[in-house]
Amino acid sequence: MARIVKVFAFVGLLATLAVVVAGVMTVSMIRRGFSARDQPSTIEATLASMMRSWSMTARAATLKSPIQPSPGILRDARSHWADHCAICHANDGSGDTQIGRHLYPRAPDMRGSATQNLTDGELYFIVENGVRLTGMPAWGNGREDSLDSWQLVAFIRHLPALTKEEEAEMRKMNPVNPGERSEEKEEEDFLRGTDGATSHPSRNDHSH
Ligand code: HEC
Repeated sequence: MARIVKVFAFVGLLATLAVVVAGVMTVSMIRRGFSARDQPSTIEATLASMMRSWSMTARAATLKSPIQPSPGILRDARSHWADHCAICHANDGSGDTQIGRHLYPRAPDMRGSATQNLTDGELYFIVENGVRLTGMPAWGNGREDSLDSWQLVAFIRHLPALTKEEEAEMRKMNPVNPGERSEEKEEEDFLRGTDGATSHPSRNDHSH
């Protein structure tokens, strides 16, 4: 009997402690506010990465890429990345974009070891399934043989060695809205000295 009372007292103590800790965390979160401009606290960052590895199937880490990266494959992947991923991750994978810097958690610098130490299978899994409770969307259909995603994994591996030329080429493939496009054209015309009245149609035909 006395033992049962002791067990109950112990469980009660644990429950009280849990309530107190949760209370302190809630109060500190409310006081800090929920702004996405803050840096995630260490506890939040640790919890988030633990949740992410738990949600990944053990099988994911061991998946092997079915493709051999070639210049052609990397070229396709660069255009795919420039079009779909660069808005958050930047062409060079630094995450240094208006959106990437202000997401909570931030888009990571994917050239660094935190990303490069993930296995190909883990990178593939993240690209296909996204990361819950973060800005990272799911891009796949849940299959293990999506060539587009495996090409992106090959590109992520190539990020630390991305050349200036490759980056410049990607800039041309980043999505632009019609306003930006006509602004760019005006600038180009101005630089060529072919804006408005000074333009000579027959000389400029090749530029269209
Ligand atoms: C809307 C913004 C957004 C877009 C678009 C986006 N991502 Fe992400 N991505 C994120 C964020 C935020 C994270 C960090 C998630 C976290 O903290 O676990 C992330 C994480 C990742 C990671 C894990 C890297 C690491 O070290 O945690 C990979 C791989 C990745 N993204 C690949 C891609 C690819 C490939 C595309 C394009 C097909 C893409 N992302 C498009 C926001 C985005």
